[in-house]
Amino acid sequence: MARILITAALPYVNGIKHLGNLVGHMLPADVYARFQRSRRNEVLCICATDEHGTPTELAAAEAGKDVETFCAEMHAAQAEIGERFGLSWDHFGRTSAVQNHELTQHLADQLDENGYIEARSIEQIYSIDDDRFLPDRYIVGTCPHCGYENARGDQCENCTRVLDPTDLLEPRSAISGSTNLEVRKSDHLYLRQSALAERLRDWVNQHADWPPVVSGIANKWLDEGLLDRGITRDIKWGISVTHETDKGTKWPEFEGKVFYVWFDAPIGYISATKEWADLDPDNRDWKSWWYGEAADSVKYVQFMGKDNVPFHTIGFPATILGSGEPWKLVDYIKGFNYLNYYGGQFSTSQKRGVFMDQALELLPADYWRYYLMANAPESSDSSFTWDHFASVVNSDLADVLGNFVNRVLKFTASRFDGAVPEGGEWTDLEVALASDLDQRITEYVRCLEEMEFRKAVTQLRAIWARGNEYLTVAAPWTKFKEDPKAAALGVGIGINLIHLYAHMSWPIIPATAETLHSSVGQGRPDGTLPWPKAEMREFLTFIKPGTALDVPEPLFRKLTDEDIELWSERFGGEAT
Ligand code: MF3
Ligand code: ZN
Repeated sequence: MARILITAALPYVNGIKHLGNLVGHMLPADVYARFQRSRRNEVLCICATDEHGTPTELAAAEAGKDVETFCAEMHAAQAEIGERFGLSWDHFGRTSAVQNHELTQHLADQLDENGYIEARSIEQIYSIDDDRFLPDRYIVGTCPHCGYENARGDQCENCTRVLDPTDLLEPRSAISGSTNLEVRKSDHLYLRQSALAERLRDWVNQHADWPPVVSGIANKWLDEGLLDRGITRDIKWGISVTHETDKGTKWPEFEGKVFYVWFDAPIGYISATKEWADLDPDNRDWKSWWYGEAADSVKYVQFMGKDNVPFHTIGFPATILGSGEPWKLVDYIKGFNYLNYYGGQFSTSQKRGVFMDQALELLPADYWRYYLMANAPESSDSSFTWDHFASVVNSDLADVLGNFVNRVLKFTASRFDGAVPEGGEWTDLEVALASDLDQRITEYVRCLEEMEFRKAVTQLRAIWARGNEYLTVAAPWTKFKEDPKAAALGVGIGINLIHLYAHMSWPIIPATAETLHSSVGQGRPDGTLPWPKAEMREFLTFIKPGTALDVPEPLFRKLTDEDIELWSERFGGEAT
């Protein structure tokens, strides 16, 4: 049994996420976690809200709440919506948790002890009209590298280069638009990434198997030469730089300053694991996932969008390596490109596209889960349109899977009293079916192991389609009169296929899988639907004659032209 640690990039706390966020980290992390659980591996799947920083301060102010209350409410809202989407975190923590304060301060101390921290007096941009220092992303201007005019002071969205706000040409305040900015001096801590560059490069080079979007960004960064990064900020909401240690007060002269959100957020992966363990300390050992020899055998996989890659291939590993302590480094980074909405990006601030709560108002989670994974932006950006969404739902979910299940169960109900009939001997048809399925499933497993999600969904659809093909040829409905045994065989195989589909589909469409499982008399699983262990021949005869069935409501409804029109209008896509 392998031990697999999975983290999804931590969603910012200040707002419900859109479908682009969902497909770029949280959903694939969940699918992979479910798959590995079903394979009977030991899985720990962790996520949390990323709570610190100015965006949160401003969002709380806008909501008229103090920042602690705001974060607590938004954390709860995200936890709830994630649950409704079937995101099966072992723990959904918070970067504002005390565990993260302690670990962040501890790692900063370690970095300092090892000579990787340096205090510098720097010039920072102060907005006179906003009456505050402007954190990097609240200064906008033209990217000096690619000329993009709305580059933020921390990173250019267009070319993904990480920036310093003072790099921007024609800077202005993103809060008020004011150009009435002045430069003021302030002391800050810097992490000497430049001193860690060689170790980081060696480590990145050891991972030739990472997806191109990940290796490409990591290497581009290393090739450009690593800059030391400021890891503190002049704001109130965050983890205090000044703190007590055994040796007295550390960095007393930094009173009132906090660590930069990108310094403490990834540490949240570890500290959220500690939160999880602290809920049941007798039975949960967080350190064995993260620290020392015990964690050597753990395979650690991170999921994230491409804009997050620099922070996970350089920033966070620099913290870990520089700490001099044996914290676990990531083994595999599954990075995603962007899912676009009608050619442009989904955008939280511009309210462009579909948000998780809105999506669930329209349709249950599995419609979205299936479509998003089938259309995941893996090798390039992909695009959401209502037409495409409807055509995938209608053909794959409603026609291929839904009709199959409905046909088999309805026919069994009307002709065989709703119970599995005793069938005749297998013919070449069943033998060919079993061998094709064996091949398809092997391929499906390989795709999921390798986190090739689009290909995995293609295999899953093919597995469903193979059942339809079988039924069309076996044609139990036409054989029912002259050869009831043959008809019963076909129906029995159909029922067993539904059972197989429940297990195979569970990582991607868990609620549907559970309905399928209970419809063929196997009960509603409590937790994982394990991967079939047996030979296909055994699996296709697993459900014994006499087992009572339950005909569920149609699994998926077909989306109509009216749906598409209505939703395009509501969400600003154009119907084509
Ligand atoms: N909140 C960040 C984003 O949405 C991701 C943080 S990932 C972490 O882009 F590792 F730093 F937590
Ligand atoms: Zn740029």
